[in-house]
Amino acid sequence: MRMRNLLLAGAAVMVTVLTAGTATASGTSLDRTKPPADSLRALAAGINLRIGTAVTPFELDNPAYAQITGDQFDSVTPGNEMKWETVERVQGVYDWSAADRLVTFAQQHGQLVRGHTLVWHNQLPGWLTSGVADGSIDNDELRALLRKHVIDEVTHFKGKIWQWDVANEFFANSWDAHPLPSGINGDNFWVSHLGEGILADVFRWAREADPKALLVYNDYNIGGEDGTNAKADAVYAWAKNLLAQGVPIDVIGNQGHLDTQYGFSGPRLTAALSRYASLGVKVAITEADVRTFVDNATEQVPTSNLALFAQPYEYVQMLRSCLEVKECISFTVWGFGDANSWVPGWFTGEGYACIYDVNLNPKPAFTDLQHELMLAGKGAPQRHGR
Ligand code: XIL
Repeated sequence: MRMRNLLLAGAAVMVTVLTAGTATASGTSLDRTKPPADSLRALAAGINLRIGTAVTPFELDNPAYAQITGDQFDSVTPGNEMKWETVERVQGVYDWSAADRLVTFAQQHGQLVRGHTLVWHNQLPGWLTSGVADGSIDNDELRALLRKHVIDEVTHFKGKIWQWDVANEFFANSWDAHPLPSGINGDNFWVSHLGEGILADVFRWAREADPKALLVYNDYNIGGEDGTNAKADAVYAWAKNLLAQGVPIDVIGNQGHLDTQYGFSGPRLTAALSRYASLGVKVAITEADVRTFVDNATEQVPTSNLALFAQPYEYVQMLRSCLEVKECISFTVWGFGDANSWVPGWFTGEGYACIYDVNLNPKPAFTDLQHELMLAGKGAPQRHGR
């Protein structure tokens, strides 16, 4: 109880200090073409970095949510609305409506769009997975369906996507890899049916359909967040090999889902990002959040007071790694408000993972990111001399 009071008091102070950055403050509508000077996007603009967020398009009906999305971020990623399950729930019938809505919002607010995601083992349409399971879709047909999906989706959004998360989560976790090092997960739905070579194909198909979009390989724990470099080593070796073959990979995206119970090493993340960049690609933090244990999934009050320090600290460390590597083009949070976060639904007992609280008030993590960006913009060493 004491903790909650402390937290609420903190939030109240924050609202007063950061009125320009919140939706609730003045009640007057801000000029959308001029984000507040202390907004994350404005602070990052001068240092050639985009600050992004995952967005749930229907939440844009909530004016407070829409205002923060427009004011604070200059890149948006649909949380689910470009996934195969959503865009082709019924075979042969495309529904782009939710994603189109977000693209339009982005265009109206001077934002770039990160497309997410073309090829993943999760959130596939039921007709596809059941067809494969019952044998009615054989591997040749599966490959043809995948090619059509990639080309049709990239073509639909052609010219409107800044970065495409082409392939998502293909590598084995370091704790599953026996022996080390890690490698492409042979049990992955796509790899088990179509072989590892499918990854090179999907990047080529995407490039063919939209030559201007930056093509991303996206994964988690590929910045040594799990305390080993096993997965990072594997992704680095794979990317190096494919790039040498001319496969069009432009960006390595590190998701950045952290948890205060594990901690992580900022310098290790910086080193991993630098090493990818040494291959001639860009890098990005694509899905940052920092979860911790909470009292319940609704209020999401941390159960440890240490978390109140660890959570913003880890956000800043992650941003700093991105700032330290000049090839890091975007820092994206996986949703900005705790009420809308995927964490409580996926990690039992955890939450408080975002930079705004359940009532869309900015948390210490938000202010700390602001401060870090402000320092970088004023010439703090991390963004310079490289
Ligand atoms: C999550 C969404 O946020 C949830 O709404 C959905 O139920 C499951 O997927 N890595 C990814 C994202 O690449 O697509 C996931 O998004 C979170 C983990």
